[in-house]
Amino acid sequence: MTAAKKTVGVGIIGAGSRGVYCVATRMAELAPDENLVVKALCDRNPDRMKEGKEHLEKEFAERGVDTDIRLFSDYQELIADPEVDLVMVSTTCDAHRGPALAALASGKKVYLDKPIAADLDDTIAIIEGQYKYKNTLMMGFSRRYEPAWRKAHELLDDGVIGDLWMMQIRAVIPYWRYFQGWWRRRKWSGGALNDKSSHHYDVLNWFARSRCEKISAFGGRTDIFKPDPDGPERCQECDRECPYRHKMSQKEIAQDYIALRGKSWLEETEEKHRHDNCVYLPGADIHDHVVSQLAYENGIKASLFWAIFGPKSKNGETLELVGSKGRMILTRSSSQIDLATDYGERQEVIDCKGDEHKTSHYGADRQMVRDIRRFVDGHDPVVSALDGYESTRMIMATHKSIDSGGETVWMKDVPSARSV
Ligand SMILES: NC(=O)c1ccc[n+]([C@@H]2O[C@H](COP(=O)([O-])OP(=O)(O)OC[C@H]3O[C@@H](n4cnc5c(N)ncnc54)[C@H](O)[C@@H]3O)[C@@H](O)[C@H]2O)c1
Repeated sequence: MTAAKKTVGVGIIGAGSRGVYCVATRMAELAPDENLVVKALCDRNPDRMKEGKEHLEKEFAERGVDTDIRLFSDYQELIADPEVDLVMVSTTCDAHRGPALAALASGKKVYLDKPIAADLDDTIAIIEGQYKYKNTLMMGFSRRYEPAWRKAHELLDDGVIGDLWMMQIRAVIPYWRYFQGWWRRRKWSGGALNDKSSHHYDVLNWFARSRCEKISAFGGRTDIFKPDPDGPERCQECDRECPYRHKMSQKEIAQDYIALRGKSWLEETEEKHRHDNCVYLPGADIHDHVVSQLAYENGIKASLFWAIFGPKSKNGETLELVGSKGRMILTRSSSQIDLATDYGERQEVIDCKGDEHKTSHYGADRQMVRDIRRFVDGHDPVVSALDGYESTRMIMATHKSIDSGGETVWMKDVPSARSV
């Protein structure tokens, strides 16, 4: 019998959907094996912290783990807490920099959620911080922990499609919630493109095994979410028929939502912190679609076809890789890879659905918790800050290209960190 793993105390800065209800809840589910136990929370909203404490203590107790979670309004105090070994930063993107740097400086293990930051200044500061404090952080790009994407990478490594030459990610997803929450302004999120497609660029970089050289993109904002100065401010004060109604304002599910997360979300009053702003509320400056072309230093070409107003559908996100001898198409929601090898002589569908397919992000978050444990135990991070730095620099180049009407932006002209 193997000895139980030593308890690792986790402190979470940013006790919202991702930090508490996704990653930390998966930690509780895996606590008997991985022994990552939440000991502290910090959030700007005190009620949010109380709700998070209650939710997590119950989740851990159900797996036989007692924890009395301490609450901090100051992230420095959470980081200094001797019971905290691993600091998780899952605030809104504009607030990653302060806690990430302080956590790196403390010498403790650090997990930072993606994207690395909302702008280039913060992105560069976090990278410089890693070098300055000689500490490495781990990032949460979900697809890198997801079985189907890992399998596709392994197949590519095994040479089943020959040399890789072309890649495409198609993401046509019903993600209008980006107009409802803090994603709606670039200064808070770096744009919806930064929030969602930093994932996409990160995996393209991972498959290309090269650096992006230049980007040309067309996109912007359709009139689907055209601002309406006469509309209501938020869903909960609106009784119009609307396909974009936020979950917590839909009577039939509001009670479940409140029962799980408490009322702190409903009681937020500022535009930045409400999650049910009307999608037509003026002020949003984010793009809602893009067609972007990338050229890599090693000759690989890639494209991203992305919209956040797509309908719910079974194949909202796909990855296609074309090599010299074959090609594969990964469909994210079904975790299947359609593979053609030997110049098309062999065709097969590989099903990567495991027992955890129905858990969050098709099993990625459970796997990520295991990989966080390995990281705490001394292994390299699966995804590093440098990966996050590269993908957010590419997003900013994409914004620049879109805003200039599609001009080519060279990555060497995008501000970079001195230490890289
Ligand atoms: N890896 C993934 O698949 C994935 C999925 C969802 C979100 N995320 C990322 O996780 C992060 C959080 O997103 P979310 O969906 O949980 O948002 P959220 O709005 O649900 O939660 C963010 C929390 O941060 C708190 N906060 C904001 N500023 C703060 C500050 N200065 N100090 C302390 N707390 C502060 C807010 O009050 C809120 O509770 C973002 O970086 C987001 O992109 C990653």
